[in-house]
Amino acid sequence: MSNSMQAALITHYKQSLPEIRTVPVPTLTPTDVLVRIKAASLNPIDLKTMAGGLRPLLSYQLPLIIGSDFAGEIVAVGQQVTTFKVGDAVYGRPRKTRIGTFATYLAIDVDDIALKPRNLSYEEAAAVPLVGLTSYQALNDILKIQSGQKILIQAGAGGIGTLAIQLAKRLGAFVATTTSAKNVAFVQKLGADRVIDYHSENFSTVLSNYDAVFDTLGGENLAQAFSIVKPGGQVVSISGLPDARFAKEYGLPRWKQALFRLVTNRLTRLEKRSQVTYRFLFMWPSGTELATLTQLIEQHQLQPIVDQTFAFQDLNQALTALKLGHTRGKIVVQMA
Ligand SMILES: NC(=O)c1ccc[n+]([C@@H]2O[C@H](COP(=O)([O-])OP(=O)(O)OC[C@H]3O[C@@H](n4cnc5c(N)ncnc54)[C@H](OP(=O)(O)O)[C@@H]3O)[C@@H](O)[C@H]2O)c1
Repeated sequence: MSNSMQAALITHYKQSLPEIRTVPVPTLTPTDVLVRIKAASLNPIDLKTMAGGLRPLLSYQLPLIIGSDFAGEIVAVGQQVTTFKVGDAVYGRPRKTRIGTFATYLAIDVDDIALKPRNLSYEEAAAVPLVGLTSYQALNDILKIQSGQKILIQAGAGGIGTLAIQLAKRLGAFVATTTSAKNVAFVQKLGADRVIDYHSENFSTVLSNYDAVFDTLGGENLAQAFSIVKPGGQVVSISGLPDARFAKEYGLPRWKQALFRLVTNRLTRLEKRSQVTYRFLFMWPSGTELATLTQLIEQHQLQPIVDQTFAFQDLNQALTALKLGHTRGKIVVQMA
Protein backbone atom coordinates (compact mmCIF):
# COMPACT_ATOMS: atom_id res chain seq x y z
CA MET A 1 0.00 0.00 0.00
CA SER A 2 1.35 3.41 -0.92
CA ASN A 3 1.94 6.02 1.81
CA SER A 4 0.15 8.70 -0.18
CA MET A 5 -3.39 9.18 -1.43
CA GLN A 6 -5.63 11.54 -3.34
CA ALA A 7 -7.81 13.86 -1.28
CA ALA A 8 -10.09 16.85 -1.91
CA LEU A 9 -9.14 19.64 0.47
CA ILE A 10 -9.57 23.31 1.18
CA THR A 11 -6.72 25.54 2.27
CA HIS A 12 -8.93 28.45 3.38
CA TYR A 13 -12.58 29.11 4.17
CA LYS A 14 -14.85 30.58 1.49
CA GLN A 15 -12.88 28.57 -1.09
CA SER A 16 -15.53 27.98 -3.74
CA LEU A 17 -14.43 24.42 -4.55
CA PRO A 18 -11.83 22.02 -3.09
CA GLU A 19 -8.58 21.00 -4.82
CA ILE A 20 -7.62 17.38 -5.32
CA ARG A 21 -4.06 16.88 -4.02
CA THR A 22 -1.69 14.08 -3.07
CA VAL A 23 -1.38 13.85 0.73
CA PRO A 24 -0.12 11.23 3.23
CA VAL A 25 -2.41 8.32 4.15
CA PRO A 26 -3.77 9.02 7.67
CA THR A 27 -2.31 7.20 10.67
CA LEU A 28 -4.45 5.11 13.02
CA THR A 29 -5.18 5.49 16.72
CA PRO A 30 -5.62 2.18 18.60
CA THR A 31 -9.44 2.37 18.23
CA ASP A 32 -9.42 3.34 14.52
CA VAL A 33 -9.79 1.36 11.34
CA LEU A 34 -8.31 2.41 8.01
CA VAL A 35 -10.87 2.26 5.22
CA ARG A 36 -10.19 2.30 1.51
CA ILE A 37 -13.07 4.43 0.35
CA LYS A 38 -15.07 3.12 -2.60
CA ALA A 39 -17.76 5.81 -2.66
CA ALA A 40 -18.69 8.94 -0.72
CA SER A 41 -21.86 10.99 -0.78
CA LEU A 42 -22.26 14.75 -0.96
CA ASN A 43 -24.10 16.65 1.77
CA PRO A 44 -25.00 20.33 2.08
CA ILE A 45 -22.77 20.39 5.19
CA ASP A 46 -19.76 19.99 2.86
CA LEU A 47 -20.65 23.33 1.24
CA LYS A 48 -21.31 24.92 4.65
CA THR A 49 -17.95 23.64 5.96
CA MET A 50 -16.11 25.07 2.95
CA ALA A 51 -17.89 28.40 3.41
CA GLY A 52 -16.81 28.49 7.08
CA GLY A 53 -20.46 28.50 8.16
CA LEU A 54 -19.93 25.94 10.93
CA ARG A 55 -17.19 27.87 12.71
CA PRO A 56 -19.45 28.88 15.63
CA LEU A 57 -19.88 25.14 16.36
CA LEU A 58 -16.72 23.49 15.04
CA SER A 59 -13.13 24.63 14.58
CA TYR A 60 -11.00 22.83 12.02
CA GLN A 61 -7.32 23.02 11.23
CA LEU A 62 -6.62 23.90 7.63
CA PRO A 63 -5.88 22.44 5.14
CA LEU A 64 -8.98 20.32 5.64
CA ILE A 65 -10.07 17.25 3.68
CA ILE A 66 -13.81 17.51 3.25
CA GLY A 67 -16.52 14.85 2.88
CA SER A 68 -18.89 13.58 5.56
CA ASP A 69 -19.81 9.95 4.85
CA PHE A 70 -18.62 6.96 2.86
CA ALA A 71 -18.75 3.25 2.08
CA GLY A 72 -15.57 1.22 1.69
CA GLU A 73 -13.42 -1.70 2.77
CA ILE A 74 -11.28 -2.01 5.90
CA VAL A 75 -7.59 -2.39 5.02
CA ALA A 76 -6.04 -2.07 8.51
CA VAL A 77 -7.24 -2.05 12.12
CA GLY A 78 -5.86 -0.37 15.26
CA GLN A 79 -4.40 -2.49 18.09
CA GLN A 80 -7.56 -2.35 20.23
CA VAL A 81 -10.10 -3.07 17.48
CA THR A 82 -11.86 -6.41 17.93
CA THR A 83 -15.29 -5.80 16.39
CA PHE A 84 -14.26 -5.39 12.73
CA LYS A 85 -11.54 -6.98 10.62
CA VAL A 86 -9.55 -6.34 7.46
CA GLY A 87 -11.73 -7.05 4.42
CA ASP A 88 -15.04 -6.01 6.04
CA ALA A 89 -17.26 -3.87 3.83
CA VAL A 90 -18.40 -0.96 6.01
CA TYR A 91 -19.98 2.46 5.85
CA GLY A 92 -20.10 5.40 8.22
CA ARG A 93 -20.24 9.03 9.19
CA PRO A 94 -16.98 10.08 10.92
CA ARG A 95 -17.22 12.23 14.03
CA LYS A 96 -17.34 15.90 13.16
CA THR A 97 -13.74 16.65 14.14
CA ARG A 98 -12.49 13.86 11.86
CA ILE A 99 -14.26 14.37 8.54
CA GLY A 100 -12.46 13.78 5.23
CA THR A 101 -14.23 11.12 3.18
CA PHE A 102 -13.42 12.68 -0.21
CA ALA A 103 -10.15 10.77 -0.19
CA THR A 104 -8.73 7.38 -1.07
CA TYR A 105 -8.33 6.41 2.60
CA LEU A 106 -9.98 7.44 5.87
CA ALA A 107 -8.96 6.69 9.46
CA ILE A 108 -12.16 6.43 11.51
CA ASP A 109 -13.06 5.42 15.04
CA VAL A 110 -14.52 1.93 15.04
CA ASP A 111 -17.57 3.18 16.99
CA ASP A 112 -18.58 5.29 13.98
CA ILE A 113 -18.95 2.48 11.43
CA ALA A 114 -21.31 -0.40 10.70
CA LEU A 115 -21.30 -3.26 8.22
CA LYS A 116 -22.50 -2.16 4.79
CA PRO A 117 -25.93 -3.56 3.89
CA ARG A 118 -25.25 -6.65 1.77
CA ASN A 119 -28.00 -5.79 -0.70
CA LEU A 120 -26.53 -2.36 -1.57
CA SER A 121 -23.67 -1.40 -3.87
CA TYR A 122 -20.94 0.80 -2.38
CA GLU A 123 -22.45 3.79 -4.20
CA GLU A 124 -25.92 3.16 -2.72
CA ALA A 125 -24.50 2.51 0.75
CA ALA A 126 -22.50 5.75 0.70
CA ALA A 127 -25.81 7.60 0.28
CA VAL A 128 -27.04 6.47 3.69
CA PRO A 129 -24.93 7.35 6.77
CA LEU A 130 -25.34 11.10 7.31
CA VAL A 131 -28.92 11.50 6.10
CA GLY A 132 -30.01 8.13 7.47
CA LEU A 133 -28.66 8.83 10.96
CA THR A 134 -30.08 12.37 10.97
CA SER A 135 -33.55 11.16 9.98
CA TYR A 136 -33.44 8.26 12.44
CA GLN A 137 -32.35 10.54 15.29
CA ALA A 138 -35.03 13.15 14.52
CA LEU A 139 -37.87 10.63 14.24
CA ASN A 140 -36.90 7.95 16.77
CA ASP A 141 -34.69 9.65 19.34
CA ILE A 142 -36.20 13.15 19.54
CA LEU A 143 -39.75 13.10 18.18
CA LYS A 144 -40.34 9.46 19.22
CA ILE A 145 -42.98 9.15 16.49
CA GLN A 146 -45.83 6.80 17.36
CA SER A 147 -48.18 4.96 15.05
CA GLY A 148 -51.08 7.17 13.92
CA GLN A 149 -49.29 10.48 14.54
CA LYS A 150 -49.25 13.16 11.85
CA ILE A 151 -45.91 14.61 10.81
CA LEU A 152 -44.79 17.13 8.21
CA ILE A 153 -41.39 16.36 6.70
CA GLN A 154 -40.10 19.35 4.75
CA ALA A 155 -38.34 18.87 1.38
CA GLY A 156 -39.43 15.27 0.85
CA ALA A 157 -37.42 14.80 -2.36
CA GLY A 158 -34.03 15.65 -0.83
CA GLY A 159 -31.38 13.47 0.79
CA ILE A 160 -32.99 13.75 4.21
CA GLY A 161 -36.60 13.76 3.00
CA THR A 162 -36.36 10.58 0.93
CA LEU A 163 -35.16 8.53 3.92
CA ALA A 164 -37.23 10.37 6.56
CA ILE A 165 -40.49 9.69 4.68
CA GLN A 166 -39.70 5.97 4.55
CA LEU A 167 -38.70 5.84 8.24
CA ALA A 168 -41.80 7.77 9.38
CA LYS A 169 -44.10 5.50 7.37
CA ARG A 170 -42.42 2.48 8.92
CA LEU A 171 -43.26 3.94 12.35
CA GLY A 172 -46.91 4.13 11.27
CA ALA A 173 -47.17 7.91 10.90
CA PHE A 174 -49.37 9.88 8.49
CA VAL A 175 -46.77 11.81 6.48
CA ALA A 176 -47.18 15.17 4.77
CA THR A 177 -44.31 16.58 2.75
CA THR A 178 -43.41 19.54 0.56
CA THR A 179 -41.82 19.33 -2.86
CA SER A 180 -42.10 20.83 -6.33
CA ALA A 181 -44.65 19.52 -8.86
CA LYS A 182 -42.10 17.40 -10.75
CA ASN A 183 -41.44 15.31 -7.61
CA VAL A 184 -45.02 14.74 -6.41
CA ALA A 185 -45.35 11.18 -7.78
CA PHE A 186 -41.81 10.41 -6.60
CA VAL A 187 -42.49 11.28 -2.92
CA GLN A 188 -45.88 9.54 -3.05
CA LYS A 189 -44.06 6.39 -4.14
CA LEU A 190 -41.81 6.72 -1.08
CA GLY A 191 -44.97 6.71 1.06
CA ALA A 192 -46.01 10.37 1.51
CA ASP A 193 -49.77 10.62 2.24
CA ARG A 194 -50.23 14.35 1.66
CA VAL A 195 -47.98 16.20 -0.79
CA ILE A 196 -47.81 19.98 -1.01
CA ASP A 197 -46.29 21.65 -4.06
CA TYR A 198 -44.48 24.45 -2.25
CA HIS A 199 -44.49 26.64 -5.37
CA SER A 200 -48.28 26.86 -5.43
CA GLU A 201 -49.37 26.25 -1.80
CA ASN A 202 -48.09 27.31 1.59
CA PHE A 203 -48.14 24.33 3.97
CA SER A 204 -49.11 26.52 6.92
CA THR A 205 -52.41 27.45 5.26
CA VAL A 206 -53.45 23.89 4.41
CA LEU A 207 -52.18 21.75 7.32
CA SER A 208 -53.29 21.87 10.96
CA ASN A 209 -53.37 19.79 14.11
CA TYR A 210 -50.11 17.97 13.40
CA ASP A 211 -48.14 16.16 16.11
CA ALA A 212 -44.73 17.08 14.73
CA VAL A 213 -42.72 18.87 12.07
CA PHE A 214 -39.29 17.74 10.87
CA ASP A 215 -37.95 21.00 9.48
CA THR A 216 -35.10 20.82 6.96
CA LEU A 217 -35.47 24.34 5.60
CA GLY A 218 -35.16 26.84 8.47
CA GLY A 219 -36.08 30.54 8.18
CA GLU A 220 -39.77 31.41 7.64
CA ASN A 221 -40.63 27.75 6.97
CA LEU A 222 -39.48 26.94 10.49
CA ALA A 223 -41.35 29.88 12.02
CA GLN A 224 -44.56 28.86 10.23
CA ALA A 225 -44.20 25.24 11.37
CA PHE A 226 -45.36 26.18 14.89
CA SER A 227 -48.78 27.18 13.54
CA ILE A 228 -49.62 23.68 12.25
CA VAL A 229 -48.60 21.73 15.38
CA LYS A 230 -51.08 21.06 18.17
CA PRO A 231 -50.25 22.02 21.77
CA GLY A 232 -47.87 19.50 23.30
CA GLY A 233 -46.40 18.71 19.87
CA GLN A 234 -42.83 19.18 18.67
CA VAL A 235 -40.82 20.90 15.99
CA VAL A 236 -37.34 19.59 15.32
CA SER A 237 -35.11 21.46 12.90
CA ILE A 238 -31.80 20.58 11.33
CA SER A 239 -31.56 23.86 9.41
CA GLY A 240 -32.89 26.38 11.89
CA LEU A 241 -30.88 28.24 14.46
CA PRO A 242 -29.31 26.28 17.31
CA ASP A 243 -30.98 27.33 20.58
CA ALA A 244 -29.51 27.84 24.05
CA ARG A 245 -30.57 24.35 25.15
CA PHE A 246 -28.63 22.81 22.26
CA ALA A 247 -25.65 25.09 22.97
CA LYS A 248 -25.57 23.89 26.60
CA GLU A 249 -25.94 20.20 25.71
CA TYR A 250 -23.24 20.62 23.03
CA GLY A 251 -20.90 22.02 25.68
CA LEU A 252 -20.48 25.48 24.17
CA PRO A 253 -19.17 28.24 26.48
CA ARG A 254 -21.68 30.35 28.39
CA TRP A 255 -21.23 33.38 26.14
CA LYS A 256 -22.21 31.28 23.11
CA GLN A 257 -25.20 29.86 24.99
CA ALA A 258 -26.29 33.45 25.69
CA LEU A 259 -25.73 34.38 22.05
CA PHE A 260 -27.84 31.47 20.80
CA ARG A 261 -30.55 32.39 23.35
CA LEU A 262 -30.62 35.88 21.91
CA VAL A 263 -30.77 34.86 18.25
CA THR A 264 -33.52 32.30 18.89
CA ASN A 265 -35.72 34.74 20.83
CA ARG A 266 -38.40 34.58 18.16
CA LEU A 267 -38.49 30.76 18.25
CA THR A 268 -38.78 30.81 22.06
CA ARG A 269 -41.77 33.17 21.77
CA LEU A 270 -43.35 30.90 19.14
CA GLU A 271 -42.78 27.87 21.38
CA LYS A 272 -44.52 29.56 24.31
CA ARG A 273 -47.40 30.94 22.27
CA SER A 274 -48.18 27.62 20.56
CA GLN A 275 -47.17 25.35 23.48
CA VAL A 276 -44.96 23.42 21.09
CA THR A 277 -41.42 22.27 21.92
CA TYR A 278 -38.54 23.31 19.64
CA ARG A 279 -35.36 21.26 19.32
CA PHE A 280 -32.36 21.90 17.10
CA LEU A 281 -30.71 18.66 16.03
CA PHE A 282 -27.04 18.46 15.10
CA MET A 283 -26.79 14.80 14.16
CA TRP A 284 -24.23 12.60 15.90
CA PRO A 285 -22.23 9.70 14.44
CA SER A 286 -23.28 6.29 15.75
CA GLY A 287 -22.17 2.91 14.49
CA THR A 288 -24.89 1.33 16.63
CA GLU A 289 -27.71 3.32 15.04
CA LEU A 290 -26.18 2.79 11.62
CA ALA A 291 -26.27 -0.98 12.25
CA THR A 292 -30.02 -0.60 12.86
CA LEU A 293 -30.31 1.13 9.47
CA THR A 294 -28.33 -1.75 7.90
CA GLN A 295 -30.95 -4.16 9.25
CA LEU A 296 -33.84 -2.07 7.94
CA ILE A 297 -32.20 -1.88 4.51
CA GLU A 298 -31.51 -5.62 4.42
CA GLN A 299 -35.16 -6.23 5.41
CA HIS A 300 -36.21 -4.00 2.47
CA GLN A 301 -37.85 -1.45 4.80
CA LEU A 302 -35.53 1.37 3.72
CA GLN A 303 -33.96 2.13 0.34
CA PRO A 304 -31.55 4.97 -0.42
CA ILE A 305 -32.14 7.00 -3.58
CA VAL A 306 -29.10 7.91 -5.68
CA ASP A 307 -29.80 10.76 -8.07
CA GLN A 308 -26.41 11.13 -9.78
CA THR A 309 -23.01 9.45 -9.58
CA PHE A 310 -19.75 11.20 -10.49
CA ALA A 311 -16.14 10.02 -10.69
CA PHE A 312 -14.01 11.40 -7.83
CA GLN A 313 -12.00 13.45 -10.34
CA ASP A 314 -15.29 15.23 -11.18
CA LEU A 315 -16.08 16.04 -7.54
CA ASN A 316 -16.31 19.75 -8.29
CA GLN A 317 -18.97 19.11 -10.92
CA ALA A 318 -20.84 17.07 -8.31
CA LEU A 319 -20.57 19.87 -5.72
CA THR A 320 -21.80 22.37 -8.30
CA ALA A 321 -24.85 20.14 -8.91
CA LEU A 322 -25.49 19.90 -5.15
CA LYS A 323 -25.36 23.71 -4.84
CA LEU A 324 -28.39 23.99 -7.15
CA GLY A 325 -30.47 22.63 -4.24
CA HIS A 326 -32.71 20.33 -6.27
CA THR A 327 -31.09 16.93 -5.82
CA ARG A 328 -33.59 14.06 -5.84
CA GLY A 329 -32.14 11.80 -3.13
CA LYS A 330 -28.35 11.89 -3.10
CA ILE A 331 -25.29 12.68 -5.21
CA VAL A 332 -22.43 10.20 -4.86
CA VAL A 333 -18.80 10.17 -5.98
CA GLN A 334 -17.03 6.94 -6.87
CA MET A 335 -13.40 6.57 -5.89
CA ALA A 336 -11.09 5.01 -8.49
N1 LIG B 1 -28.24 19.63 11.62
C1 LIG B 1 -27.88 18.47 11.07
O1 LIG B 1 -27.36 17.58 11.73
C2 LIG B 1 -28.12 18.24 9.59
C3 LIG B 1 -27.95 16.96 9.04
C4 LIG B 1 -28.24 16.77 7.70
C5 LIG B 1 -28.69 17.82 6.91
N2 LIG B 1 -28.82 19.04 7.48
C6 LIG B 1 -29.34 20.17 6.66
O2 LIG B 1 -30.65 19.84 6.23
C7 LIG B 1 -30.90 20.45 4.97
C8 LIG B 1 -31.45 19.42 4.01
O3 LIG B 1 -30.43 18.48 3.72
P1 LIG B 1 -30.58 17.50 2.47
O4 LIG B 1 -29.38 16.61 2.47
O5 LIG B 1 -31.90 16.88 2.44
O6 LIG B 1 -30.48 18.56 1.27
P2 LIG B 1 -30.70 18.33 -0.29
O7 LIG B 1 -30.78 16.87 -0.59
O8 LIG B 1 -29.67 19.12 -1.00
O9 LIG B 1 -32.13 19.01 -0.55
C9 LIG B 1 -32.53 19.14 -1.86
C10 LIG B 1 -34.04 19.01 -1.93
O10 LIG B 1 -34.65 20.15 -1.30
C11 LIG B 1 -35.88 20.39 -1.95
N3 LIG B 1 -36.26 21.78 -1.72
C12 LIG B 1 -35.55 22.88 -1.97
N4 LIG B 1 -36.23 23.99 -1.55
C13 LIG B 1 -37.40 23.54 -1.03
C14 LIG B 1 -38.53 24.17 -0.43
N5 LIG B 1 -38.57 25.50 -0.28
N6 LIG B 1 -39.53 23.41 0.00
C15 LIG B 1 -39.51 22.06 -0.14
N7 LIG B 1 -38.47 21.41 -0.70
C16 LIG B 1 -37.43 22.14 -1.13
C17 LIG B 1 -35.60 20.09 -3.40
O11 LIG B 1 -36.79 19.64 -4.00
P3 LIG B 1 -37.33 20.33 -5.36
O12 LIG B 1 -36.31 20.03 -6.41
O13 LIG B 1 -38.64 19.67 -5.56
O14 LIG B 1 -37.40 21.81 -5.07
C18 LIG B 1 -34.55 18.97 -3.33
O15 LIG B 1 -35.11 17.70 -3.55
C19 LIG B 1 -29.60 21.11 4.55
O16 LIG B 1 -29.62 22.48 4.91
C20 LIG B 1 -28.55 20.40 5.41
O17 LIG B 1 -27.39 21.17 5.65
C21 LIG B 1 -28.54 19.28 8.79
